[in-house]
Amino acid sequence: MIRLGVNIDHVATVRQARGELYPDPVQAAVFAELGGADNITCHLREDRRHIQDRDVWALKDTIKIPLNFEMACTKEMLAIAKKLKPHAVTLVPEKREERTTEGGLALKNNLKALTKATQELQDLGILVSLFIEPTVAAVELSAKIGAKAVEFHTGHFCHKIDRLTSTSEKIRLVHDSLGLASVRAHECGIQSHFGHGLHYANASWLQVVPFAEEANIGHAIIGRAIFCGLEKAVRDMRFLLNDAHLNPLPNGRLK
Ligand code: PXP
Repeated sequence: MIRLGVNIDHVATVRQARGELYPDPVQAAVFAELGGADNITCHLREDRRHIQDRDVWALKDTIKIPLNFEMACTKEMLAIAKKLKPHAVTLVPEKREERTTEGGLALKNNLKALTKATQELQDLGILVSLFIEPTVAAVELSAKIGAKAVEFHTGHFCHKIDRLTSTSEKIRLVHDSLGLASVRAHECGIQSHFGHGLHYANASWLQVVPFAEEANIGHAIIGRAIFCGLEKAVRDMRFLLNDAHLNPLPNGRLK
C-alpha cells in the first residue's frame, strides 16, 4: 500500500492572498483525514508565505493522523521542530525567489549540517526524510547522513511522463528515474517517499515503483477539491495510488 500525505499549504495560500481567516488549512486537514489521508504535510517557510506558525500548532493538536512537517534545515526551524515533535520532518531546500520547492537538497554541500539535524531530530523519535533528486548517488549520501527516509523530487519525472505517449518509453522512464533510486533506498534500509508535480493523470505510475511507501501531494488535490470537495479529491487520489485496476502495468511492479 502507498500512503497518501496531503499537503494543505495551498489552502493557506488562498487565505493569505486576502489576509483573511479563511479558508483554514486545519479544517482542510480534517476533511483530508475524513477522505482517507494517511498523513498531513505542511511546509512552514522562512518567509511565512502560506502556512503560519499558529497553523502548525493547531494542526498538531487537531489531526489524528501523523503530521509531516516540511522545513528548511535552519536554526529557527530546527528549534520549532524540536518543540513541535511531529511524526516526521522532511528537510527541503528553500529559496525565497522560488514559486515552489524546485529541486532536491544539495547534500554534498550541506553534509555536516544535515547529518547533525537528522541525528538530533531522530534522537527525539522524529522520522527524518530528506527531499532529494531521484538518483542512486543522492540515496547513498542520504544513507551516509543517517536519514531513515527520503522523498524523491518527482517534478522532473512528472513533466517528462506527462509528455510521453508510448507505454514502453514511460516504463523505461519510471524504471530509470524512480525505480533504480527506490531499490537502492530499500537496500540501504531507507523508506522511499515521492512528491512534487504528481496529479490525477500520473500518480498511478507510483504503483509500479518497487518499495514505494508514500506520496505527498498538494496542488492537484486542492485544485480538484474546488470542483468536487476535498474528501472526494483525497479519496480519488488514494484510489489511484493503490487500486490494482488502475495499475498502469497489468503485471504489477517493475522488477
Ligand atoms: N513534497 C515536497 C517536499 C514539496 O515541497 C511539495 C510542494 O510543496 C510537495 C511534496 C507537494 O507538491 P505538489 O503541490 O506539486 O503536489
